[in-house]
Order: sequence, then C-alpha cells, then structure tokens
Amino acid sequence: MRQIKTNVHAVGAIDFDVRLFDRLIPLPDGTSYNSYLINGSEKIALLDTVDPAKREVLIDNLSKAGVNKLDYIIAHHAEQDHSGSLADILSLYPDAKVVTNPKCKTMLIELLDIQDDKFITVEDGETLSLGGKSLQFIYLPWVHWPETFATYLQEDKILFPCDFFGAHLATSSLFVDDEATVYESAKRYYAEIMMPFRRQINTNLAKLETLEIEMIAPSHGPVHNRPNFIVDAYRDWASVTVKNEVVLPYVSMHGSTAKMVSFLTDALIERGITVKQFELSTVDIGKLAMALVDAATIVIGSPTVLIGPHPCAAYAAFLANALRPKTKFASIIGSFGWGGKMVEQLTAMLPNLKAEILEPVITKGFPKDNDLLALDRLADEIFAKHKELGIVN
Ligand code: FEO
Repeated sequence: MRQIKTNVHAVGAIDFDVRLFDRLIPLPDGTSYNSYLINGSEKIALLDTVDPAKREVLIDNLSKAGVNKLDYIIAHHAEQDHSGSLADILSLYPDAKVVTNPKCKTMLIELLDIQDDKFITVEDGETLSLGGKSLQFIYLPWVHWPETFATYLQEDKILFPCDFFGAHLATSSLFVDDEATVYESAKRYYAEIMMPFRRQINTNLAKLETLEIEMIAPSHGPVHNRPNFIVDAYRDWASVTVKNEVVLPYVSMHGSTAKMVSFLTDALIERGITVKQFELSTVDIGKLAMALVDAATIVIGSPTVLIGPHPCAAYAAFLANALRPKTKFASIIGSFGWGGKMVEQLTAMLPNLKAEILEPVITKGFPKDNDLLALDRLADEIFAKHKELGIVN
C-alpha cells in the first residue's frame, strides 16, 4: 500500500512479468492494475479491483491496510482486468455496495454474474460523500468501452479515470518520474485501445476542462502529478493533425517486395518525409499501432500468396482498419509470380480508413526500371499530397 495523499492509497498490483494482454497486445514493460483506497471519516471506498491473476495482491494489500469493512467499491469499467476480482472482494466484504452507472451495472451482471442487489447506480455529476472526501462521478463514455466513467475526488482534486490516460507500464514509482518512458507507454496504450474512439476522446477532454485537476490516477501505470503532460499528449494524438510521415508495413517472400520497399523508403527520405518501416513477420504490433497515431500516409507492401495478400500483410491491414487512424492517404506496393487479386483484396480490407487510395505499384517478380520509376512517381505523389496538407517542412 502506498500513499498518494492523506487517506488516499494505491492498493493495486504491479505485474512486471506479463508480456501479452488479451493474447494480442505486446507488453514490453509489463503493466499494473491500479486499485485505490479512499478513507473518509465515515465511509471507505475501493476504486476498481484488479485482474483476477493478481487478486491475492489486492486482498493482501487490503489486509495489510487493516481494512475490515468496505462500504463501496466503485466500478468504473466492466472489463475483467479491473472488475474480474469484484466477486472475490464482495465475498470478503459482504456489506460493500458496488457503485457504478446503470450501463456498467448491466454489463457487470451479464459478464461477471454479480447479483443485482449489490449495486448502487449513480448518474453523471452525482456525488457521494465518504465524510471529508467527496466523490463526484463523471461519465466519460467510450474510453474505451461504452460504460466507462471517472471519479473526481473533490477535496484532493484527483481524477480517477480508469483506462483513460493509462499506460501499460510496470514501475515501482508511484508517480510519473520519467516522462519520456511514460509517454512511450501511454502512446502505445492510446494507439492500441483508445485510437478508434478519437471523437469521443475529444468530447471527454472538453468535459474535463471544467475541473481543477492536480493529479490523474489511472488504472494502468503510474499516477500523473503533472496532469497537463498526459492531457496535452492526448489532445495531440486525438487531434485532426497528421504528420509528414509514411508508415510502411511490409512482408517479402523472395526479395521483390523488399526491394520495392527499400527503394520507396529511400525515395521518401530524399523528399524529406519521415518513414516508419515495419517487417511484418517479426513486428511488434504496438510499435506499428503507435506509428499509425500520427502518420499522414500508410503504404502496405505485400507479395501475392494463393492469389491474395500475404497473411501477414492482411493482418496489418485488418489491424489498421480496426484502429481507425487519422491517416489521409493509403497505397499498396508489392509483387506477384503469376497473377492474383492482392491489391483488390487488401484495399477492400481498409474501409474504415477514410483515406484516399494512391495508385498502387505492383511488379511481376523482381522490380525492373519501369517499376522503380513508378515507385518514384508514388513518392512524388505522396510528397505533393503532404504539401497540400501543409505538413512538409
Ligand atoms: Fe484496463 Fe479496458 O481495461
């Protein structure tokens, strides 16, 4: 248990060893499942629980803190990494009520089989006094599920926004002490979890402007004691602005697509464009997702396999489409041996991108002079498009 402010403590779990979230998302620096204990003069509240894999840590922390009775468990989010230990905590503290919004209540009943009579539901803006500690509940939907909301501790000016502003980062530091490291982890988290909900994020950021916030205590990663650092980062990531960058995920079987990618990368660099190239059979998809946060353009490189795209390229296209980045332009480069519909199939996988498709460049076998000329033209077109946007230095 670690103190954030008087009678406000962190009682969650740090997982230094976990390396994959949802069997999908790489966690190069582990994560934490943050749970907070607030002691008022009359009542005690626990804010969120932890992933079931770490329930014993939370139970042990509550025991060490001498918590014999819990009055409220605030459940900000129904996803299991925060609510999965709820039933265990309720059985240990049978008098506790789960405080949440009506949508989250329904989800907790359906997903975790929590009994209906365990709940108190709260409306947007409602407050709950613990005695000298007033909890104000603020609906922040779609960060990143429909039911998400935050608690604002009025006296201490601390916002507890659950996943919003979080970072998959295991650290023994309670507070952010290395902003560069936290920026990387928070951006990775934003890219993988929050990016598809950019519009709602902007609405939620505007809603929070009315609050005086001295700390942000999310459900993953360290506590922000300089909240503008993470709020400004979110404003930038969720803005409409794109950067003079091309993301180039590719895979190559016999070297033809690799040669094209190398040529295009050089051509873009010569034009002053930043290129972020990712070899897809070995890629960290978190890095790819992070690159998509800012880039104006994505170009996917793929050979043709069984008349379609290489499965690694199809995976990258599927992921990019699901993450809905603000990318303005897209294209495809690649190769084939005897025929196929690689371009058509990849293009059809990108309907969410709302990007203008630039003329693909496809070669039969190893790229020849005319193919390299076509890649030069593609680089010219990307440069011209970026210039139109006013993002070329
Ligand atoms: Fe950290 Fe959406 O759960």
